[in-house]
Amino acid sequence: MDTFKEGQLIKQLAEVVSNNREIVKQDQYYPSYHIAAPVGLINDPNGWIQWNGVYHLFYQWMPFHTGHGAKVWGHVTSTNLVDWKEEQPALLPTDVYDKDGCYSGSAIVYNNKLYLFYTGNVKKDGKRESYQCVAVSEDGIHFEKQGPVIFVSEGYTAHFRDPKVWQAGEMFYLVLGAQRDDEIGCVVLYQSKDLLNWEFVNEIAGGYGYMWECPDYFHLDAREVFLFSPQGLEQDGEKFMNTFQSGYAFGKWQEDNTFNLDSFVEIDKGFDFYAPQTTLDDKGRRLLFGWMGMADEHEQYHPTHQYKWIHQLTIPRELMVIGDQIYQQPVAEMQLLRKEKLLNNEVVANQQQFSMSRTTEMYADNQNNTDFTFSIFNTITIVYSSENKKITVSRKALANGKIEYRYGTVKNQVKELHFFIDKSSLELFVNNGEVVFSMRMFPSVDNHFIEINGNLILSAWKL
Ligand code: FRU
Repeated sequence: MDTFKEGQLIKQLAEVVSNNREIVKQDQYYPSYHIAAPVGLINDPNGWIQWNGVYHLFYQWMPFHTGHGAKVWGHVTSTNLVDWKEEQPALLPTDVYDKDGCYSGSAIVYNNKLYLFYTGNVKKDGKRESYQCVAVSEDGIHFEKQGPVIFVSEGYTAHFRDPKVWQAGEMFYLVLGAQRDDEIGCVVLYQSKDLLNWEFVNEIAGGYGYMWECPDYFHLDAREVFLFSPQGLEQDGEKFMNTFQSGYAFGKWQEDNTFNLDSFVEIDKGFDFYAPQTTLDDKGRRLLFGWMGMADEHEQYHPTHQYKWIHQLTIPRELMVIGDQIYQQPVAEMQLLRKEKLLNNEVVANQQQFSMSRTTEMYADNQNNTDFTFSIFNTITIVYSSENKKITVSRKALANGKIEYRYGTVKNQVKELHFFIDKSSLELFVNNGEVVFSMRMFPSVDNHFIEINGNLILSAWKL
């Protein structure tokens, strides 16, 4: 470990945070209850785990500017999933094997220690190198790097990253997002008995797109799930409309350690969602955080650069299988954030306008199966047609002001909608999470109005 470099970086980091924290907070768009960087850029959730009753969430962080680069692992902790404490950064890109970024990865508890697995990103003469590295902690705050434990395997390019680790019986397993030499995306599998010595098993799944990022594997109810973020999928009608996708495939782990993937399903239909990661908590819940953003998608047009920050994560969500698909619901703890009640079973009859807080939870009951339209702060429009069971979400594209659309279809009818609004973001859960849309929005300062057309019953809370 390069302790001199580390000392310097810790100092620069503390400075950049203290010099800019106030500027960041002055921004009307900085979230009130979502996790965002104290300054700079946040992307993927990392190392998501609960240990001794404390939830630890790490994240990809570029503190020094609002772009990508040599990422640090930021760290926050919580005991209730809604009040988060900022901890000191867990991993810094200060060693030869991670000098251009401590990239995404995961956490596991073993022998009463917290292990972080991450990708050391290195650029040499413009060429990428990737090392899968380990760091260990006894207190969950200070991490000792152990260096690389997995190197790029033959047959794959240096796009080899984002280790997700888990234990099954006596064995540990680890999956990595990878790219074959012929530039096709896939996931590779490793196994270990001690978390330090890893053996390449095989390529467990793959075959489309050019790179699969951030793989995750877990059991959910009676199903086996692969969650991943494939890059290079072509838009297919109203599917795969974002620059990059995130979603899951059910399937079955075979005896030869391959996984026969069913078809890929986008887990979130909104404009801004990527690189989700899950963990299992002590209540037996499979909990997910996602990044409410995406690389290479008009990041330069976000108005928050001038306030020295960009992007945020989603709220934590609980996953479940209902019928033949995954549902995502806001964790029950979100109710702890409710302050005053803004609407109490208000019956909306046709066109109506409500003045709302910029941090609002809203619940709409559509018992009558009516068509409806919502306009949120004159920025996001949500239209439902009961005839084709389709929800259409639109906003003005940041890049060119043209209206852009995303679509979601429900199996039966839209019975209810659950909105989480936080300054510059909206997460919409339809039918208890059958369809979810996550998106950023940048309404004008003075607009606090939600306009609704339809026969609905509304409740709302200021958060
Ligand atoms: C996904 C990703 C990961 C990588 C990280 C770098 O958004 O590209 O594959 O580890 O971000 O910040």
